[in-house]
Amino acid sequence: MNMDKNKVYIFDTTLRDGEQVPGCQLNTVEKIQLAKALETLGVDVIEAGFPISSPGDFNSVIEISKAVTWPTVCALSRAVEKDIDMAAEALKYAKHGRIHTGIGTSDSHIQYKFRSNREEILERAVKAVKYARKYVDDVEFYAEDAGRTDNEYLARVVEAVIKAGATVVNIPDTTGYCLPAEYGEKIKYLMEHVDGIDKAIISTHCHNDLGMATANTMAGILNGARQVEVTINGVGERAGNTALEEIAMILKAHKLDVHTDINTQKIYGLSRMVSSLMNMPVQANKAIVGKNAFAHSSGIHQDGVLKNAQTYEIIDPQEVGVDTNSIVLTARSGHAALKFRLESLGVNLDEETLNKVYQEFLKLADKKKEIHDDDILMLAGADRAKDNHIKVDWLQASSGIGMKPVASIGVDISGEKFTAAATGNGPVDAAINAIRQIIKKPVTINEFTIQGVTKGSDDTCKVHMQVGSGHQICYGFGSDTDIVTASIEAYVDCLNKIRG
Ligand code: KIV
Ligand code: ZN
Repeated sequence: MNMDKNKVYIFDTTLRDGEQVPGCQLNTVEKIQLAKALETLGVDVIEAGFPISSPGDFNSVIEISKAVTWPTVCALSRAVEKDIDMAAEALKYAKHGRIHTGIGTSDSHIQYKFRSNREEILERAVKAVKYARKYVDDVEFYAEDAGRTDNEYLARVVEAVIKAGATVVNIPDTTGYCLPAEYGEKIKYLMEHVDGIDKAIISTHCHNDLGMATANTMAGILNGARQVEVTINGVGERAGNTALEEIAMILKAHKLDVHTDINTQKIYGLSRMVSSLMNMPVQANKAIVGKNAFAHSSGIHQDGVLKNAQTYEIIDPQEVGVDTNSIVLTARSGHAALKFRLESLGVNLDEETLNKVYQEFLKLADKKKEIHDDDILMLAGADRAKDNHIKVDWLQASSGIGMKPVASIGVDISGEKFTAAATGNGPVDAAINAIRQIIKKPVTINEFTIQGVTKGSDDTCKVHMQVGSGHQICYGFGSDTDIVTASIEAYVDCLNKIRG
């Protein structure tokens, strides 16, 4: 990587750290789709997976390496030779490949996780970097739990791994514990105390457990970090990682001396794509990409914005690809209009799939007047359920004032047909009770959210569900203009994901 001192390199880990969200795993085809969209967005590095962790991750790193041209493709490993071997093997088709290896450096990791001591960990770190350098010229080292690592020891580790050949050194706040001033100080300390620091890029990797991931990442940049590890929509386990869109727009909105190469107009499309592929709703008040991020509801604000948008808007929504004047598709919109809208949301479909999506689009347009971005992303993703072994053939539910809700259902399980009927405290409960008579697995519903896409009684609703079965937790998604159908789709989506 040729270092530009005023550039903040964007290392996207949506496909690795982001994808660790329980129930949000993507298949290889979806990962390739996302990787290509990230390339168009202008990210510098795509962390494509942790090859030793599963054959799926190994394959995804291979396929993403083949699919993208410009970004560096990065594979994660522990500071263990067999992990590094696997990472190198998975990267063999990468035009620019990077191995990301590392080890915990905080006293609690050293003492409890490794039952080791500081000197031994330092040696293992150096050995891993040297070993990885045998395979690739670009090796990133992570000092796991650096946020809680003593700065003096951390500086010794950073110096030693740079000497061993690390090109990038990642300082993760793994637990999301640091205060922004503390994290900034840590980066400053390293910049000032590590011999040879100019030979490597210092990277931030902040988690959002206390809601400080973006603030900590900014503190890192302001003190000399020149790579940031981020995810779209801030997805990631627990409270998630630093959100790519927030850092890109902070750097754009503030006149700092640094820039990114992010094509910010692609942000909104990527955000919708990740939300749709991972079945993870974006909270309405999420900065930059939330539904309400640019919606002024108070009278005073609306009046100001109408007079001059700058009164209350620090970012023009169009800069992030939110087109407030975007054409809403209707039943009269043609194939080309649908293709154009999908492409502007980052979805490029082959002609055959596009034709199928167009037919579904026409059916939906018959049911509701206006088709919005979320509707067409759902239609584009509907095909993902086609290989499910449990499918709903038909469903009938009735409910109303003064009557007991009742539902009957026909289900196809790997080609075998079953029917059942049940009552419940509402039509959704009745339909789920009916399925429970057919599929007797003990399944508990832990989370059940119903969201409208836009407005109006003819709106499409999106249902997100999380179920538990034994030790497994699965997420499911459904969407339809019929609330019972969408709920049952989500429930069946969960059932299809339960193993065993
Ligand atoms: O949060 C963390 O420490 C990580 C490392 C594996 C880079 O994700
Ligand atoms: Zn992490």
